[in-house]
Amino acid sequence: LRVGLLFGGRSGEHEVSISSARAIARALTTEQNTGKYEILPFYIHKDGRWLAGDVPQQVLESGTPLQLPSTPNDQLSVAKNQVLGRWQSPSQVAEVDVWFPILHGPNGEDGTIQGLLTLMQVPFVGSGVLGSAVGMDKIAMKTAFAQAGLPQVKYKALNRAQIWSNPCVFPKLCDEIEATLGYPCFVKPANLGSSVGIAKVRTRPELEAALDNAASYDRRIIVEAGVVVRELECAVLGNDSPKASVIGEITYASDYYDYDTKYTEGKAGLLIPAPVPEAVTRQIQEMAMRAFIAVDAAGLARVDFFYVEATGEVFINEINTLPGFTATSMYPLLWAHSGVSFPQLVDRLIQLALE
Ligand code: ADP
Ligand code: DAL
Ligand code: MG
Repeated sequence: LRVGLLFGGRSGEHEVSISSARAIARALTTEQNTGKYEILPFYIHKDGRWLAGDVPQQVLESGTPLQLPSTPNDQLSVAKNQVLGRWQSPSQVAEVDVWFPILHGPNGEDGTIQGLLTLMQVPFVGSGVLGSAVGMDKIAMKTAFAQAGLPQVKYKALNRAQIWSNPCVFPKLCDEIEATLGYPCFVKPANLGSSVGIAKVRTRPELEAALDNAASYDRRIIVEAGVVVRELECAVLGNDSPKASVIGEITYASDYYDYDTKYTEGKAGLLIPAPVPEAVTRQIQEMAMRAFIAVDAAGLARVDFFYVEATGEVFINEINTLPGFTATSMYPLLWAHSGVSFPQLVDRLIQLALE
């Protein structure tokens, strides 16, 4: 079976995607999967160009993004603030039997690539257009979770126009946020990841600045009541009857799980299984499977939770339909602790794509 491994991508998580793809490529060709899969790697450059053949192989081997010389055409596109590198189909695309997109964040985890692959009429690993899009947009995701009766922290959804276009409305909006959510609260662009654009705010000036900043990243913005929490994660695998893994905990000394904590070696730790009461584990596993179904996810997802130890409350935070998949990422480690090795996991995901 020829597996089209699709990685890199136009997102802030390009580098993580390369690491995830390296680990997956290794697992597909490991002893346990010998003879089953032939890998056709496709690298999506940061400018959007798709590259097949030797280049993706080199990127996978080196683990570092490719620097392409910019062309006069690129310069023009940059000046016009246009998308670089119009999509072109490398000829190898036609040879793929099943796609394994391992792209994180916008343009990869949000349904856009899934739409393209759907039109190609070739099966692919992971969620389809709907599950990916709903899972990516924090407002749509929270609406789906609320509908499914999953407990969440209080939040308010906003759009850019409410923040930027009307100076009379803005102070009222801030008053309302203060009255309903209070401080601290978290201001987030609805469609990013890796904590980019997120701010924890404690005062009115901080709130105003954070809303303005979040609006520069996204048209859709969400503000949430801040809670003092432990962060627990559960991995889900399957299609219409998904299974939940053991649960893990993320630990860190920083104020919250921000970009720096996520990507600086040694700043965050993983505890598997999470040291929490058995009832909390069971509740989280059950909520994770419900969340997976609520957004119409498929194949895989990591569902993240907030656990308020003082009260025993559990809130769902978010679902990630293409979670980090490096050798040291939570998703594959949770399955390894649940009895599914990394090579078995990628094999299972491809089988689920073919169902
Ligand atoms: P991302 O999609 O970028 O991972 P999250 O919504 O998961 O964004 O937020 C990133 C981190 O910010 C969380 O892991 C947590 O540490 C902190 N955080 C976000 N929302 C809240 C909240 N309502 N209360 C407490 N901490 C929060
Ligand atoms: N967005 C990163 C890759 C994750 O969820 O693991
Ligand atoms: Mg998160």
